[in-house]
Amino acid sequence: MNAIEIRDLSKSFRGMYAVDHLNMTVPVGAIYGFIGENGSGKSTTEKLICGHLVPDGGEIKLFDRDYTDAGVRVRVGALIENAGCFPGSSVYQNLMMQCINLGLENPDEEIRRVLEIVRMEDNATIKFKSCSLGMKQRIGIAMALLGEPALLILDEPINGLDTDGMRIMREILVDITHNYGCTVLISSHILGELEKIATHYGIIRQGKMIVEMSAQELEGRARVFVSLKTKDMAGAREVLKEKYGTVKDEDGYLRVYDVDDTAQIVDLLMKNGHVVSEIKKNKIGLEEYYVELMSQKEVK
Ligand SMILES: Nc1ncnc2c1ncn2[C@@H]1O[C@H](COP(=O)(O)OP(=O)(O)OP(=O)(O)O)[C@@H](O)[C@H]1O
Ligand SMILES: [Mg+2]
Repeated sequence: MNAIEIRDLSKSFRGMYAVDHLNMTVPVGAIYGFIGENGSGKSTTEKLICGHLVPDGGEIKLFDRDYTDAGVRVRVGALIENAGCFPGSSVYQNLMMQCINLGLENPDEEIRRVLEIVRMEDNATIKFKSCSLGMKQRIGIAMALLGEPALLILDEPINGLDTDGMRIMREILVDITHNYGCTVLISSHILGELEKIATHYGIIRQGKMIVEMSAQELEGRARVFVSLKTKDMAGAREVLKEKYGTVKDEDGYLRVYDVDDTAQIVDLLMKNGHVVSEIKKNKIGLEEYYVELMSQKEVK
């Protein structure tokens, strides 16, 4: 079963498509990384799924049911833009107000549960305005987790976080999916971070989904390459070019694509009088895949 299935979804503002006949499939249990340039339509898509905007056309199904179905709506938690908290109220009070809004039974117990998940059980009495950005983002996630949603929609939750904040957020998201069986849709620009946790990716451009794939598929599609250093980089490049075709200069290394036999390369260079001082095998990551895709693919 899919947690989200979108077909032909469109939304325009002043005659311009923000979401343009978009298709999207998010399997249950996935951490789905939703990637795209500024203004490509990520937040609009998320708002449409959450019912914050009305689509011009198309279909959104959540857990095989129409997204307007009340039974399915209560299974969706979201953090889009900000948590909508009252700054002068404590973390606990903000969560309590949301529990009342949602009509949750045993709110105190539920608040303890979500605070534990976001590792803020010791910060319940702090006023929201006194919280750090990282804490505010985690409170936003706690708010979204109230009522035990099966699907969590998070719009750029790691933006602006420091390394430690990102690590904690990563651990929280993995915990939510592994231990609570929640599916997570997360938009982010920080591809290196996303790559550490995402099981699936969707790349959106000008409102259209241009690629959807699992992390395994990305792994399979990613080109291998060897990067190396020698004293005479220009001379070595010529030798490598002749045998392997394109050779790129990247960060002070020469890159030879679609080869992983380092011994063969060392041997070839040695025979041509070049001593290799450093050599390693590599694979193109999400970031490079994305940059390459963006530079190639034109939207029709
Ligand atoms: N309420 C609105 N009124 C008019 N135009 C809007 C509105 N919301 C979004 N847009 C436009 O729709 C397009 C998509 O915006 P959206 O916010 O969905 O992009 P995004 O991918 O989330 O970008 P970012 O990475 O900057 O958050 C943009 O051109 C934006 O200006
Ligand atoms: Mg956005």
